[in-house]
Amino acid sequence: MRITNYTLKSVRAPRRFDLALVSDLHDTESDIVLEALSGMKPDIIAVTGDLTSRLDCREGEEAPCDRIIVTHTSAFKLLEGAARLAPTFYSLGNHELCGHYYKENRHRKCLEENLDAIYASGARLLDDAFCDFEGLRIGGLTSGLTNGDDRPRLGWLEGFCSWEGFKILLCHHPEYYPLYLKDRPIDMILSGHAHGGQIRLFGRGLYAPGQGILPKYTSGIHDGRFIVSRGLANTAKPIPRLFNPTELLRITVIPVK
Ligand SMILES: [Fe+2]
Repeated sequence: MRITNYTLKSVRAPRRFDLALVSDLHDTESDIVLEALSGMKPDIIAVTGDLTSRLDCREGEEAPCDRIIVTHTSAFKLLEGAARLAPTFYSLGNHELCGHYYKENRHRKCLEENLDAIYASGARLLDDAFCDFEGLRIGGLTSGLTNGDDRPRLGWLEGFCSWEGFKILLCHHPEYYPLYLKDRPIDMILSGHAHGGQIRLFGRGLYAPGQGILPKYTSGIHDGRFIVSRGLANTAKPIPRLFNPTELLRITVIPVK
């Protein structure tokens, strides 16, 4: 795992701050991530989904469809540990609600016990919602793959964008940026999901779900405000991850006149 640094300058930033971006932990152990976060000393931690799988299933249960034994321990440990280090904000990816099998599971919902564990962690869940935090507005756009019609719920973004100050949007799917977000006045948009394109050659990824072959948004900073993490998971079965180290991001936001 590497730490990648980005700098984002903005006239609307109320102050300088460091944000750590955690994405796509999946079944990776959280200890090494928490150790790195501790060393980074961020002011804010953002978690952009696919932190665990199947919040509609209990710990240890065999999930319908994908026949995996569900584990949440590492994910909840990460949220708890992150929230102890800095204010932590969490939005939901496709895996949290079985988005990859959404057609068979259109109406599945988070189990109350899993929501309770998220709330008890001290992290702030932003499920198609936003909050105002110390001069910043932070929102979380939940994966549309959990909605049954493939589309994210966008209505709340009007209220989110109506404020003049510095706005941060956590959005698991990078493919939403050109479709739904590019024309909105959002100062910083954070994504994951693409796992860096799984195999990287000549500086670009080869494939990402939702974007297909030679995807555009798998890594890096785009348009000076849209930042995509390559994520923390080692593999996406059955294709191995190659020339594509996992990463944790540190984004330094600097106010400019
Ligand atoms: Fe994902």
